Amino acid sequence: MKIHAYERIYLALCAVLIVLGVIAVGMSVFARGVHLPAPHGTILAAEAVKTAPFDNLGLTEVAPGEYQMVMLGQMWQWNPLKGENPNGKDITIPAGSTVTFTITSSDVVHGFMVRGTNINAMVIPGQITEVTYTFDKPGEYLVICHEYCGRFHHKMWGKVIVS
Ligand code: CUA
Repeated sequence: MKIHAYERIYLALCAVLIVLGVIAVGMSVFARGVHLPAPHGTILAAEAVKTAPFDNLGLTEVAPGEYQMVMLGQMWQWNPLKGENPNGKDITIPAGSTVTFTITSSDVVHGFMVRGTNINAMVIPGQITEVTYTFDKPGEYLVICHEYCGRFHHKMWGKVIVS
């Protein structure tokens, strides 16, 4: 059987693309540490407000430069962030701080995203989401909800201020 020269070229190109694809995935996993966020536990969504640690929302310094931020995704706020919630407040941390966000939802699916970082995780009722990030650069980081969660989805935002 004779293989046409063009076929040979296409076959070679396909092989190269497959190898490049495998290298790209391998580099993102091993060199850059990209991975899917794993669920960190389950919780009864309706009881979330009364269940530890979500019965005590907010920022705690657990070690020098290391913080834990416990948050609740609710229609339509990232409790206890300020955003449009008059009772909430922005969180302020010094540059170089590592923050572990522990979040759950007490109602519907929300999407936790912090602009300018690689923080991007689903917040699902019944599950606990945990993401850790080191804020090296000073600035104001906008926190948004990127999963449509109803009428005032666009009002679900807040700020992390790194000074
Ligand atoms: Cu919460 Cu959109």
